[in-house]
Amino acid sequence: MNKMTTPRAAARTVDEITGSRRLRRMRKADWSRRLVRESHLTVDDLIWPIFLTDGTDVREAIPAMPDVWRLSVDNAVKEAERAAKLGIPAIATFPQVDPARKDVTGSHILDPDNLINRATRAIKHAVPEIGIVTDAALDPFTSHGHDGILRDGVIVNDETVEQVTAAAVLQAAAGADIVAPSDMMDGRIGAIREALDANGFQDVAIMSYATKFASAFYGPYRDAIGTRGLLKGDKKTYYIDPANSDEAVREAEQDLLEGADMLMVKPGLPYLDIVRRLKDEFAVPTFAYQVSGEYSMIKAAAANGWIDGEKAMLESLLAFKRAGCDGILTYFAPAVAEMLRA
Ligand code: PBG
Repeated sequence: MNKMTTPRAAARTVDEITGSRRLRRMRKADWSRRLVRESHLTVDDLIWPIFLTDGTDVREAIPAMPDVWRLSVDNAVKEAERAAKLGIPAIATFPQVDPARKDVTGSHILDPDNLINRATRAIKHAVPEIGIVTDAALDPFTSHGHDGILRDGVIVNDETVEQVTAAAVLQAAAGADIVAPSDMMDGRIGAIREALDANGFQDVAIMSYATKFASAFYGPYRDAIGTRGLLKGDKKTYYIDPANSDEAVREAEQDLLEGADMLMVKPGLPYLDIVRRLKDEFAVPTFAYQVSGEYSMIKAAAANGWIDGEKAMLESLLAFKRAGCDGILTYFAPAVAEMLRA
């Protein structure tokens, strides 16, 4: 094809002739950079994942995740209050379940008074203005750390969907605004939508962990909820192969057809190409989860003085916006909110 037939190619040629294009012109001052800035990070973009544990007035450090804690419900309520004051729209809860309550099917997820549901009720009561996202997944509850029911070495799909669906209804009953199934079983979104509607929870939204990849970046999270030592094998039979992008699009399409209100890509930064593809393809609310390993890498490098932690944090979050995210689940949420407010 003749290069001159496209306007861009034509412009490039004119530039070459005249030398008139100087992209540094708009970079020359703070005012001009602000004027042409394409993406912005605001507090409205943040969902804050927090970890729950049993007890009262507990605030346990997680060594691999500096400045992140496991919180008893009373302290989770305090943090939710702080988040609401900072303007963070929503929090997402993840429980460290007492090992004595774990079994092969993760049956404790069906206890209306389990840690997630108790926390939801307490937070909803004390801080009704903040959105609550609950993780409808079995892994904190199973003795083997998998997101599904394990029978004869196989994660059984339909039985897992049934259990996760029942759990999602209990989470909605406790006051969850958004249920977020993260197990990657086939058919879970449709089943959950139907059950929520049948139980009068038409207004409870579903954020699908639509494209969850079999990733090494979840390591610190598994320490945080105590599943690292338990997990036998890996999650490759249900999470997506990190090599695949078309498959991620098909997975997201399926979840939207089944009734997902929002899509999520997980992990985040290594998968920004997936965010962009989904946003371009479907134009629906699209989120990414900047997962524990991504957080820990920035914190560790900063602690060693190898990078500027605050700048790296802000740049990583802005990259999500540029890639097409409407919001980001990030352990940095309160730190960012404080900075954006200052
Ligand atoms: C599993 C689940 C995972 C995370 C949240 N829920 C992944 C896993 O353990 O396989 C990871 C979150 C993070 O790394 O920050 N349902």
